[in-house]
This record gives sequence, structure tokens and C-alpha cells, in this order.
Amino acid sequence: MINNKNTKKILAIRGMNDILPLRSFDWGSLENILFKWLHSYGYSNIRVPILEQTSLFQRGIGEVTDIVEKEMYSFRDSYNDDSLTMRPEITAGIVRAAIEHNIVYERPRRLYSLGPVFRHERPQLGRYRQFHQVDIEAIGFEGPDLDAELMIMVSRLWKILGIENVKLEVNCLGSYQDRLNYKGVLLSFFEKNIDHLDEISKKRLYSNPLRILDSKNPILSSLIEKAPILLDYLSDKSLKYFDSVCNFLKSNDIPYYVNNRLVRGLDYYNLTVFEWTTDKLGSQSTVCGGGRYDNLFSMLGGKNIPAAGFAIGFERLVELWNFYKSPSKIEECDIYITHRGLIAQKLSFNYAEKLRDSGFKVIVHCGLNDSLKRQFRMADLSNATLAIIFGEDEIENNFASIKLLRLSHNDNVNQEKISLELLIPFLKDKIKK
Ligand code: HAM
Repeated sequence: MINNKNTKKILAIRGMNDILPLRSFDWGSLENILFKWLHSYGYSNIRVPILEQTSLFQRGIGEVTDIVEKEMYSFRDSYNDDSLTMRPEITAGIVRAAIEHNIVYERPRRLYSLGPVFRHERPQLGRYRQFHQVDIEAIGFEGPDLDAELMIMVSRLWKILGIENVKLEVNCLGSYQDRLNYKGVLLSFFEKNIDHLDEISKKRLYSNPLRILDSKNPILSSLIEKAPILLDYLSDKSLKYFDSVCNFLKSNDIPYYVNNRLVRGLDYYNLTVFEWTTDKLGSQSTVCGGGRYDNLFSMLGGKNIPAAGFAIGFERLVELWNFYKSPSKIEECDIYITHRGLIAQKLSFNYAEKLRDSGFKVIVHCGLNDSLKRQFRMADLSNATLAIIFGEDEIENNFASIKLLRLSHNDNVNQEKISLELLIPFLKDKIKK
């Protein structure tokens, strides 16, 4: 008996999900598809820590953003008095690693990473506090061809997954100077309408007026609709760049929609930004977002290195994929071994190893006193192709009884006796890989 008075159930943290086996099976299948897709475009995997210095995100994402102001899991590491943060995105970490290890020294690099990220947002369907991103970064490329290739890539992913009706929205945020000019215009527009702003937007008016444009407060939407648009303040150079991105999209038959209000929630972007949205996921409709970030390297203490990338929300992608794919079924094993008595159980373990040597997935029933009825029930639930029965008769006469659990059209009996010498060829015939 455990002598512990506190036996209250301990539950998971709100917004942080357990991925149970059937779901996890889909995750694994999707990961494999994603890795193949990424490798087909020449991307290599990189893994960066989940915990980073808080200043990395403050400088990278921007002090006056929702993420840095109110969504980061930050804490002081009392052992060495560092301020640390559970990464709210992966881009800043990859850029830090690229600077630290000088990985773009010889040539541009195409990198990807997949893993958990953390944002203290209000949880709802499709919005979590621990979620996962597939993050793609192309480092050292400065042209519009690369920006277009990123979108061509995503468009191919939708085809691979059979996902339809995802909408691509693109915008151009121009250069630093373009945005500086625009900020002045925006400031005077919002100053004139200051009484209509909410508290957070009033605070941002002088520090980062662009962030007012991606406010999630519905009360502000009609005012934001009337605000001047950045496109009207872009330099010829930026416009030409954007035009070139759009031309690449057209020549690759990628439908897109120019959304002049799209500014993205992170400060590091310049020139091209884009998002893919769907109407299948309710209010959390953005599955993928990204853009160019030519200043991030220098903002984080590196050389001036141009780069662009995007991230896909993994949970949202799985959810969306589920609308288009057939339901999954986990086959825990090919063969489920049932037995009667201790000697047969021992023999089962022994024989299972041989079957695994031949490439089969095998479960040996554990539970010495369980009836054959219960063992068959477990065999059924495992989705095995067949069950092997070992009992006294089988041991004495060197054979195995087989019960086919999923009959194919060639099978006219569902129970057979096979001598042990012939068992493996028989199984190979029944369980085709
Ligand atoms: P982001 O738009 O903040 O961009 O996030 C990328 C994707 O993560 C979103 O499009 C969405 O699918 C998913 N996502 C965001 N928040 C949540 C949440 N609370 N729960 C579930 N899914 C969520 C970035 O993070 C940039 N680092 C992307 C990037 C890479 N830009 C350049 N390179």
C-alpha cells in the first residue's frame, strides 16, 4: 500500500496536449511525408535547443510584439542567473546557430527543423500553448526566385497530401526605409483616430504602429480597414521585387491573392511575406506563414546575410490532412502469439524472436492465467493478420495452430495446423510486406 495522502489526479497543463497512439501514428506518417518533401528540395535537418536566452527572441521577434510582450514562457535560471525562454518559434534559434557555427560561410544553406514551440496564448481548437512547427529556412539567398520557390514548395505539399482549397495570401513589406516612411503616415492616421484605439494599440502607437495592423481585437477592424496601405509607400525597387515574386508564382500556376493588410506578427520581416489559410479549421485558419528576413542576422550580431523561410503549424496541418485522407488504423503487429500453460509461454517467447529475425512484427500475449478467449480478444484488438496458438498438443507434435484474423478472398478456412519447419514460409505467404 502506498502511504501517500495526496492521491489527487495530476492533469496535463492547459493548452499542452498528449498525443495518443492513433494520433501519434498519423503524426509519424506525416513526418515521414514531410521529410521526403523537404529532402526533394535539397533541405537538410538542423536541431536547435528548445531553451534559449530571452534576449534572442526580444531582439529577433521584436520587443513590441504579442509574442514577446505577453506570450513567452520566460524564467530566471537561479543556478546562473540567466533569463531563459522556451522558444516561441524556431527561426531565431536557427539564425543564432547559423551565426555561431558560421554555417553559411561557403554557400547558402537550405535548412529545416521540426519540434515543439511554446506560446502562452488563450487555448482553443487549433491554438495551443505547446504546439509544433515544421520550420523551413533558406539562408544566404537574396532574390525573389527563392521567395517564390518557398511558395512553390508549399503548393506541392498540398498536392502530395491531397489538401484542397488552401488560399495563398502575399504582401510586400518593402525595405526598412519604406516602412519608416509608412510608419510616419500610419502614426498620423492613428493619432487622428486615437479615441478608437484600444489600450494596447495606444501603447504601440509610438513604439510600433505597424503592430496595430495585426491586432486581433474585432473592434479595431473597421478602423484598420481605413488605414493607409503600405503598398502605396513602397519604393520602386521594392515594387519591382514584389512584381518579380508574383511573376514566378504566375509562371508556376500558383494562384495567390495580394493582401495589403498582411503584416505578420513578428518584426523581423521585410519585402515578401505570405500566409496560407484554410476555411476548414475555424478561427485558427492560418496553416503556414513566413517571409523574407534580411535584417535578422545583423540584428542578432551576425554579418548581413539575406534569408527567407516559413513555418507550418503541425497540429493544424494534421487536422487539415484528416479532412482529406482515409482514417488510420494501427496494426500493432503482424502476428499475435497465444498460448496455454507455462511451457507454451516460454516456447512462445523463443519462437517470437525467430519470427522477428524474419522481419515480422510479433506480440506474445503476456498474462499467464488469461483464457484463450481473452487472448484472442487482445489479438483482434491488435489488428494482427493472424494469431498463432501454442498448447500442449502443438508442443508435443511440433506444429503451430494458426488462426487467420483477417481473411482475404483466397482464404477458405480460418484455422490451420502448420508444422514448425514450414511455419516461416507459410507466414511469409500470408503476411505480404
Ligand atoms: P508564425 O506565423 O508565428 O510564424 O507561426 C507559424 C505557424 O505556426 C502558424 O501559421 C500556425 O499554423 C502555427 N501556430 C502559431 N501559433 C500557434 C498556436 N498557438 N497553436 C497552434 N499552432 C500555432 C513563425 O513562427 C515564423 N517563425 C515563421 C517563419 C519561419 N518565418 C520565417 N521563417
